[in-house]
Amino acid sequence: MINIALPKGRLGVRVYKLFSDAGYEFEGILDSNRKLVFENEALDMRCFWVKPFDVPVYVERGTADIGVAGKDILLERSPDVYELADLKAGFCRMAVASKNDFVDDPEKVLRVATEFPNIARNYYSGLGREIDIITLRGSLELAPVLGLSDVIVDIVETGTTLRENNLHVINYIADLSARLIANKSAYKFKGEQINEIIGRLLNNNDKDN
Ligand code: PRP
Repeated sequence: MINIALPKGRLGVRVYKLFSDAGYEFEGILDSNRKLVFENEALDMRCFWVKPFDVPVYVERGTADIGVAGKDILLERSPDVYELADLKAGFCRMAVASKNDFVDDPEKVLRVATEFPNIARNYYSGLGREIDIITLRGSLELAPVLGLSDVIVDIVETGTTLRENNLHVINYIADLSARLIANKSAYKFKGEQINEIIGRLLNNNDKDN
């Protein structure tokens, strides 16, 4: 049996569509109930919704053979897994943003609010800039607006949230999208089935684009 960890939420719904279009359907998975595990006996596959940030944990430890995680989460957690395919879904970018009228003083320690402390640390250490990281869980845009931080390192998709809060992008750090990841030993033993799944997902995705 192939076990699949899918990210619960907006990205998961988009990604599940790729699976169902490719013929991997799980009855009731999009119904708004609290059920988390779904099995398709005919396909010999089981999939479960997990918090997006936790997908690499399930895959790295082998509870899931494969999973779908945003590149943001892979950059942040650096899990010991194979990143096998870009599913070309959930495109967005990791960016540094500030208030429109913010003027940076490079001599000062920069206060950076983020949900991605490792990404922020790596980015600023590459620039040789000293920073003070403030780790938050969501609604990051509030931090510069209320003066808690100078900048945020966050995901930007349409840019609407930034605009509506009088913030703007200063720099882009990385392009992000959904990636298919695999447990290393599962890939050794179930590589053929995993490659077949990836082939079908990408094939159908290409047809959509
Ligand atoms: C993400 C991100 C931004 C927003 C960007 O938040 O943290 O706030 O989406 O999207 P946009 O550029 O299209 O406006 P999400 O909605 O996932 O919720 P969160 O603030 O709780 O993290």
